[in-house]
Amino acid sequence: MNRFENNVVLITGGASGLGQAAALQVAKEGAKLSLVDLNDDGLQDVKKQLESEVPDVEIITVEADVSDEEATKNYVNKTVEHFGRIDGFFNNAGIEGKQNLTEDYGSDEFRKVVDINLNGVFYGLKYVLDVMKRQGSGSIVNTASVGGIRGVGNQSGYAASKHGVVGLTRNSGVEYGQYNISINAIAPGAIMTAMVEGSLKQMAGDNWEEAGEEFVSANPMKRFGKPEEVGHLVAFLLSDQANFINGSVIPIDGGQSF
Ligand code: NAI
Repeated sequence: MNRFENNVVLITGGASGLGQAAALQVAKEGAKLSLVDLNDDGLQDVKKQLESEVPDVEIITVEADVSDEEATKNYVNKTVEHFGRIDGFFNNAGIEGKQNLTEDYGSDEFRKVVDINLNGVFYGLKYVLDVMKRQGSGSIVNTASVGGIRGVGNQSGYAASKHGVVGLTRNSGVEYGQYNISINAIAPGAIMTAMVEGSLKQMAGDNWEEAGEEFVSANPMKRFGKPEEVGHLVAFLLSDQANFINGSVIPIDGGQSF
């Protein structure tokens, strides 16, 4: 399949985990890529890796903090200046934040998590939708979480931000369907990426691998998800095949949320 021939796909959080996996998937099917992240070294590593796996891929990278509205305008403008359009947008960068009961949850931590995970997704939508509306087409996938569709505990900032991403997705899906733009969210469960590894290490130190096994024993499928499994879902949702899926929140969690 070459579902992304001549398509430009913009991905935030492209230096790691789910963003990196989605980048590989769409690049293999012909997409040109604009990868955005705070971590420029990570972006350069991912760019090199993609170029070795997909030799004719065209990639630009933009170092940016998605919680900064001006930086968002800039990454969108740079993508359009370079490629002339944006067909797909994986609005994905995010952090988990420190885990704590609500009464102990730091107010600064709350603001930081919401700034990145929710405000960042809003800024991305705002400036990319402007481009897609003028084009008359586009597809967007926002990254929510299981923690955005049910209570998980110890994650006030994360829960608030990811439930907010679900709300933004439903709202903008209603607004932009008429412009041939589909906007959906994914709600991943525990997928083994740097983020999950970091949070297991925060909880269990050197015993993080055993803690991980115990954690996934509660999942119906008894395992972590793989980033490439999320990459396949994102690629489908960004493709024309999924054009009539709009305003939806798609879990990918081994059945954890049911
Ligand atoms: P990751 O830590 O591997 O990748 C996240 C990327 O986002 C990193 O490259 C990081 O540098 C970048 N980033 C963080 N803050 C940023 C900022 N302010 N501006 C620009 N880039 C920034 O984590 P992962 O797992 O790939 O996470 C991606 C998204 O998936 C996040 O929104 C996360 O909340 C969400 N998610 C992940 C789950 C998992 O189990 N891995 C489960 C549910 C949701």
